[in-house]
Amino acid sequence: MPEIAYVNGEFLPLDRATVHVEDRGFQFADAVYEVLRVYAGQIFAINAHLERLFRSLEAIDLQHGFTTGQLRNLVEEAARRSRFAEAVVYLQITRGRTARHRAVPPGLTPTIVITVRELEPAPATLAETGVALETVADLRWARCDIKSVALLPNVLAFELARRHGADDALFVGADGALAESTAGNIFLITNGVLRTPPKTPRLLAGVTRDAVIAAARDDGLDCREEPVHRTDLATAQEIFLTSTTSQVVPVTTIDRAPVADGKTGPITARVYQAFRRFLPQP
Ligand code: PDD
Repeated sequence: MPEIAYVNGEFLPLDRATVHVEDRGFQFADAVYEVLRVYAGQIFAINAHLERLFRSLEAIDLQHGFTTGQLRNLVEEAARRSRFAEAVVYLQITRGRTARHRAVPPGLTPTIVITVRELEPAPATLAETGVALETVADLRWARCDIKSVALLPNVLAFELARRHGADDALFVGADGALAESTAGNIFLITNGVLRTPPKTPRLLAGVTRDAVIAAARDDGLDCREEPVHRTDLATAQEIFLTSTTSQVVPVTTIDRAPVADGKTGPITARVYQAFRRFLPQP
C-alpha cells in the first residue's frame, strides 16, 4: 500500500482521508500530535513518543479513553500497512467534532488521525554545508512543552527566516534565553561541552534531544542541560539542531554570521555517529 491514513477507525489511501469541517482541530487547533520515524521498518522510540503524547493530552485535558497499548497497536499497524522501510508517521488527536463553540460539550468523541508518508531524505550535502538560522523573538504561548498543532507562530517565523535567506528560525526569549528552532531542539558546543536549554514550558522536550544526550554521554562527551543565552552563540565552537525528521543537523550560520569558522565541526559529526548507533538497524 502507498501513503496511507487512518481516520477514526478506518485505514484508507492518504489522498482519500478527510476530517469534518466542524472538527475542533480544524476550528480551534484544539488538538495535539506526534511525529515518529520509521527506520528499517521499525518505529524509533515509540514509547517516548506515546508518553509525550499522553502528557500533551493530559495538559489540555482532552478526555480520550485510549490506552497506550491501543495507540501503539494503531501506529504500528499503520507503519506495517504502508510497508515503507523509511517513513514518517504523523499522529493527531483532536477533541472531536461539534458545532463551533468554545465550550467543550461533555461526551465528545476525539478524532484520531494517523498518516504515513515515505521519508524524503535530506540532501546529502546538508551534513557538509549545515544550515543557516535567523533569530526571532519568541512570541509563542507559555506552554511550548505541549505538542500542540497550533503552529502558526512557527510557520510565520520559518517563512520570515526563509525570506531573509536563512533555512530556519531560532526562537529567543525576551530575556535572551535560546528556546528552539521552529521544529527542533538546539545544542551548542562550547569548550568541548555540549549544552542545550533545559526542559521547561518554553520548549518542546524532543525525543531526539533525549536520545542525543544519552548517545553523547555514552560516547564520553560532557552534556549539560542548562540555560543558554543568545550571547553564547558568538563563542560556540559548533551548533546543531535535533528532531525526529532531520536527526542531527549542523548549524553553520546564525544571523548571517558564521558559527566559529562557518564549517561543520567534528563533535557534531561524532554525536551524529553516536546517535545512529541508537537507531533500529536494518
Ligand atoms: N517537530 N521543537 C519543536 C518546536 C518541534 O516541532 C520538534 C519536532 C522538536 C523536536 O522534537 P522530536 O525530537 O521529538 O522530533 C522540538 C516535529 C518533527 C514536527 O512538527 O514535524
